Amino acid sequence: MGGMKKRNLVVANWKMNPNTFLDAKKAFDGVRLGAKGLKNTDIVVCPPFPYIYPLVKLNSPKNIFFGAQNISIEPKGAFTGEVSSEMIKTLPAKYVILGHSERRKMGETNEIVKAKLQRAFGADLVPILCVGENERDKEGNHLGFIKNQIKECLIGLSKKDLVGINIAYEPIWAIGKSYLEAMSPTDIHETVLFIKKVLIEQFGSDIAGGSKILYGGSVEAENASEIVRIGNVDGFLVGHASLTSQFSDILKAVDLKR
Ligand code: PGA
Repeated sequence: MGGMKKRNLVVANWKMNPNTFLDAKKAFDGVRLGAKGLKNTDIVVCPPFPYIYPLVKLNSPKNIFFGAQNISIEPKGAFTGEVSSEMIKTLPAKYVILGHSERRKMGETNEIVKAKLQRAFGADLVPILCVGENERDKEGNHLGFIKNQIKECLIGLSKKDLVGINIAYEPIWAIGKSYLEAMSPTDIHETVLFIKKVLIEQFGSDIAGGSKILYGGSVEAENASEIVRIGNVDGFLVGHASLTSQFSDILKAVDLKR
């Protein structure tokens, strides 16, 4: 496909960290520092809900965006403890992580994730859909599992919404560890190609060509460059390392991809 070049995307998933706004502000200062001088890379910071607004109010370079880690399946009303897509949109924030494995563990099914995707599109939020297997096996059953997640979450959504869909491939067994236990760059490459193939088969080459595929799961400063070089990814979804000074190095490694 000709046309516009895709920018790299790095999503910082802070999960339920840190415990104080002061520390959140410090982490964000680190992100701002790391964002300096990047040419080809956008950053999406996804803090816990209470920190998004005060961080949005600070000055950020224009390659930093904000996102939520989840939204409600409901639009508004009597749903104690929930946060709606519109609330996130009006902060303003632009992105939302959906279907993260830690939320799926709390009971989110593909059906729920799909309904949340619709909710996100309805509010003009840009979703980052997470998929990934629990374990790998030699027979390749994990590939069928990933394909099924993609199909069940995306089939039936409008083509217009699917243009530019972001998919974060996060093998559950590789999340929250050190780089030594992350997935190998060649295995990442293979799985990313598989996901692209599924997107082409199911939705056509326009949607597949415009979509970004990220890798997540124990990305650290030590393995980021190798994965960028070999893994065929458009960026990363970074958990624990996004709250540390390593994050700048990860950003630099990604920015080398053009
Ligand atoms: P991790 O988390 O980088 O700490 O492995 C990634 C994620 O779960 O999004």
